[in-house]
Amino acid sequence: MRCSGPLAGSVSIPGAKNSVLKLMATTILCDGEFELTNVPAIADVWIMGELLAAIGVDMNWTGPDRLRLVNNGNITPDAPYELVEKIRASINVLGPLLSRCGRVKLSMPGGDDFGARPIDMHVAGLEKMGASFTFEHGYLEARADRLRGAHIAFEFPSVGATENLVTAAVLADGVTTIQNAAREPEIIDLCEFLVSMGAHIDGIGTGKLTITGVDRGSLSAVQHQTVPDRIQAATYVASCAVAGGSLDLVGARGEHMQMLLHRFGDMGMVIDQYESGVRIDAPTRLRSIDVATLPYPGIATDYKPLIITMLSVADGVGIVTENLYPGRFRYVEELQRLGADVSTSGHHAVIRGVERLSGAPVKAHDIRAGAAMVVAGLAAAGETKISGIHHIDRGYDDIVGRLSSVGADIERC
Ligand code: UD1
Repeated sequence: MRCSGPLAGSVSIPGAKNSVLKLMATTILCDGEFELTNVPAIADVWIMGELLAAIGVDMNWTGPDRLRLVNNGNITPDAPYELVEKIRASINVLGPLLSRCGRVKLSMPGGDDFGARPIDMHVAGLEKMGASFTFEHGYLEARADRLRGAHIAFEFPSVGATENLVTAAVLADGVTTIQNAAREPEIIDLCEFLVSMGAHIDGIGTGKLTITGVDRGSLSAVQHQTVPDRIQAATYVASCAVAGGSLDLVGARGEHMQMLLHRFGDMGMVIDQYESGVRIDAPTRLRSIDVATLPYPGIATDYKPLIITMLSVADGVGIVTENLYPGRFRYVEELQRLGADVSTSGHHAVIRGVERLSGAPVKAHDIRAGAAMVVAGLAAAGETKISGIHHIDRGYDDIVGRLSSVGADIERC
């Protein structure tokens, strides 16, 4: 790819990876034929599909963004290592399998390599609901003849732990409350999916979720539209921010990105939110800002590689503080190869904006770091070659096609 811009036109925003994978895992809970729409064509959906096939739910594409998932009731609560280790979201089969089958054997989950990703909160919450766990030979095994409602208070609003406990609580005996639950749009999407299946959940979108268990017979398979991907949307905002021009992000939900859009405004972007999308106009040069990552509604850690890349070519000095994954700075050395002036210390990065980056071969270390390399390549004079793009394929639905359609000089080789 080469330095590009200004960008002009519109980009459609696909459904969210971090929602659809959880919706898929939730189909374990009840028999029937589900249909998910606005599904992104990304590698992780295929991997989750293979994992579900091994468990007993068959998936097939019925359109470019449409999945049918069929649960015939023959569920095997064993999740094979080869599939689980590929994606973090495989941990999301834990809650549904345990509540449906009373037993689950799962290898410890994989996913992006940005530091330790423990599951102690998932385990502690399920133990409070009556499950017992053993950990041996890289596998966790959980058992619970019948899960029962419990009061669970999180020290930290973990996305994955909230999701696993909600899906486990749907079929538990009695009432489960989760205090300090995560409030991400993808959690709301999951809860709304469950409610349309027949689950009883109060407090959706707040930090306190109350789930009243129902019988499995009260649940039914449904059709559901996946929430748009706010991280993919932010990637196209960042692309336009460094390349210049204006873009319409069709389908983007501005209300899911309020804090981020506000901070992009502080950097000089002009943002117009309308009913079915967001329009952005880039300034001649971005201004630097300081940013700290926080759980929703704060600035998501997944936006951070994009923001650091934008700051690399902004006017002034910006400080970015990572509060979720201290090790999540691996892409910084790749940005440095492109001429960015970034230094890190502990969980802070200091970015002194330069006029322009300069193209070089770089690596994508994980999904969002890979996307940041694409954004950096748009701002870099000369040619930038990105290797390790299988990481980008895990979470981005045709980023090359979408960017080239608005004027970026990018191709897949
Ligand atoms: C999800 C997203 C990921 C995003 C993250 C935070 C998916 C597939 N991944 O990951 O893209 O970056 O939310 O927005 O949806 N923690 C514990 N113990 C636990 C659980 C979490 O210590 O039992 C810690 C983690 O190590 C991390 C922090 O809590 O430091 C956030 O984790 P969590 O919110 O659970 O993120 P994930 O669900 O793994």
